[in-house]
Amino acid sequence: MSGTFNAITGWLLFASIALSGGAAIARAVILPRVLKDEGLSSEWLVGGAARIGSAAALVLPVALGLFFVRQLLEFRDPYAPWSEDARLLLTGTAWGRTWLWGVAASLVASFAFLLARSGRQAGWWVAAPAVLALGAFPAFTGHAAGEEELRLLALAADTLHVWAASGWMGGLAVVLYLEWRWRRETPGGGNSLLPRLVPAFSPVAMACVATLVLTGSYAAWLHVDSFAALVSTVYGRTLTLKLILVAAVLGLGALNFRVLTPKLGEQSGNDALRKAASVELLLAQVVLFATAILVRTSPMDH
Ligand code: HEM
Repeated sequence: MSGTFNAITGWLLFASIALSGGAAIARAVILPRVLKDEGLSSEWLVGGAARIGSAAALVLPVALGLFFVRQLLEFRDPYAPWSEDARLLLTGTAWGRTWLWGVAASLVASFAFLLARSGRQAGWWVAAPAVLALGAFPAFTGHAAGEEELRLLALAADTLHVWAASGWMGGLAVVLYLEWRWRRETPGGGNSLLPRLVPAFSPVAMACVATLVLTGSYAAWLHVDSFAALVSTVYGRTLTLKLILVAAVLGLGALNFRVLTPKLGEQSGNDALRKAASVELLLAQVVLFATAILVRTSPMDH
């Protein structure tokens, strides 16, 4: 039960960080590259990204609340009152201070995304730095923070890893949401926005995937002593499982890009890509779930 609670809490936090960060990245680098015409405006596209960003940002304080409960249960001294333990965790540990910063950033992001959603562009200028700062939260509360040598490099690589996951997974979520809204709002419903969204998204996705592989391999090198440890330790086996899932999701992404993207514009091509991209997004949640277990596993455990 507690293992499931741990994993769900980690997944919820990673997913809300990636989705809110992805909305900001989509607003800054994907949507400006989409070809517009009379029927499609920047305001409509940006409004869709703001909806996704605000929904994810509103989940952030809840996820951080659960994250705190999880840490407190672990930190707990059964002979001390709960309130004393909570105060000590918050004010007496680096974890607690990082968590307070995270909560502040999540509240700022929630408010700023609501402003962006009401059409005020200034909201984006506040939301984007707040969610990007939150991208560093997993690094500062995870294994990277415990590194003795190369600590700064480990923290930077982990933060970059989370930003890249946000750009790819969150960007994909924004693309699919805009497609869904477009089909719902246009008469007839058969019209697809994918032929315009996908060419803007693909280069960003490729850059993010390259960054994920690079920074993920670096983290793996830091935490796993040898290739043998990939099967002989619990951490290694969990990482191997994650890598199998990553290979499946990236394989599907490559198939979407190579085989289905050239068929965009035809009704059957649009339908096939929409389905395959939805499966890709779902599989990415399984990768995040495996990661949530990974970050709670000690690299030392056999
Ligand atoms: C070849 C590809 C990848 C490798 C080698 C890799 C490896 C790793 C490793 C070793 C960690 C550190 C865990 C720890 O702190 O103990 C990590 C963290 C993480 N990974 Fe990946 N990963 C890859 C791809 C992905 C993908 C595709 C996603 C997104 C769906 C993702 C999302 C994350 C997240 C959110 C974290 C948490 C960061 C943290 O706690 O600091 N990774 N990854």
